[in-house]
Amino acid sequence: MGFFSKDIKTMDDLFVHTLRDIYYAENQIVKALPEMIDKASDQELKNGFEKHLQETEMQIERLEEVFKLHGVDVAGVNCPAIDGILEEADDVSGEVDDDRVLDAALIAAGQAVEHYEITRYGTLVAWAKQLGRNDCAALLQQNLQEEMNTDKALTAMAESRVNAAAA
Ligand SMILES: [Fe+2]
Ligand SMILES: [Fe+2]
Repeated sequence: MGFFSKDIKTMDDLFVHTLRDIYYAENQIVKALPEMIDKASDQELKNGFEKHLQETEMQIERLEEVFKLHGVDVAGVNCPAIDGILEEADDVSGEVDDDRVLDAALIAAGQAVEHYEITRYGTLVAWAKQLGRNDCAALLQQNLQEEMNTDKALTAMAESRVNAAAA
């Protein structure tokens, strides 16, 4: 985004900007997940993060398809929000000594990431439809669904076992 000129003029520009925001975010998430997999002790949590890493790689491919369908360059823009969420996750998990408490912290950090993604994809699906891009909306909806499923799976792990083990 330019400092001296306003680069976002239309709804279409805003859609593309937000697409680039989530594209950057997904790429940061792919870099962060291996460490979260490594730190998790609970086997189901480890597997859950592993599965979501594979899904995230696929999500990036879907986003690249959306850029192509929409006829714009595949590119990211800095997203300070996801950088902050991941940085905080890293800071907090670095402070936790007990493995079981660390699992609870990792779930909380993972859910902060998923909720960020859910808000972005929810907006992008609505805007794609508004712009007459149902083809893009369908791909974005698949990513949204995976984020919502991941969020629910993390809640289930926390409430059924991890929180109790940590307490
Ligand atoms: Fe994602
Ligand atoms: Fe996600």
